[in-house]
Amino acid sequence: MNIASLAGLRIVVSAGPTFEDIDPVRFIGNRSSGKMGFAVAAAAAQRGARVALVAGPVSLPTPAGVERINVRSAAQMHGAVMAALPADVYVGAAAVADFAPAHAVASKIKKQAGQDSLTLTLVRTRDILADVADHAQRPRVVVGFAAETDHVEAYARGKLEKKRLDLIAANRVGESGSGFESDDNALTVYAVDGSVHALGPAAKTQLADELLDLIAARLNQGPATTA
Ligand code: PMT
Repeated sequence: MNIASLAGLRIVVSAGPTFEDIDPVRFIGNRSSGKMGFAVAAAAAQRGARVALVAGPVSLPTPAGVERINVRSAAQMHGAVMAALPADVYVGAAAVADFAPAHAVASKIKKQAGQDSLTLTLVRTRDILADVADHAQRPRVVVGFAAETDHVEAYARGKLEKKRLDLIAANRVGESGSGFESDDNALTVYAVDGSVHALGPAAKTQLADELLDLIAARLNQGPATTA
């Protein structure tokens, strides 16, 4: 395996879910464990990068040599990622809520006698990945993930283009042995230059290293900019 050094580079990684509060006892979340993003952060630190890991609510230990910033909501993750820039590389492995309650209620919502439905108004969250790619101090390599149950290639390519990414790592979710929670995964990485790279199935720790090889190759291709 190629072990390209990332010494001297700054890498920001997002990982885990976001929790969007409905009231003091309830929230909207998802099944992300953080394993994929934590593996990327750990592997990047092992290669000598200065790594900032913006982590949603997960119970994983902080990888050695990594600066960890804990957040809960998509809005907090957006703020923490923006504050961690500038960077040479951004890897968005977090499963960020696309919608959040318009307002978190201050007191626990009580069911009323005879009430058999409850309507929540959800509003779009800000797209962290797209905002990083549009940032005035855009990282030289911006990497997204695409978690899909079907039409994986079409949706991943759509996100690569729409969010102006350099690479997108697509993974299938909704089945055992890949995607959420599993120790293993399989990634198909689509690059802006049209190349396609099938990684795995393998442990997320190994896939993280292989993804970093692709990132290192892109860093060597593009013109260097000041981070
Ligand atoms: O954490 P694990 O249990 O190890 O699982 C790994 C994983 C399945 C979560 C990971 O491999 C993965 O696919 N992460 C991205 C999940 C996701 O939210 O995908 P998406 O297709 O909905 O989003 C596309 C991209 O936009 C992602 O890079 C996401 O971080 C980013 N995004 C989405 C919405 C938003 N408001 N801001 C974002 O930055």
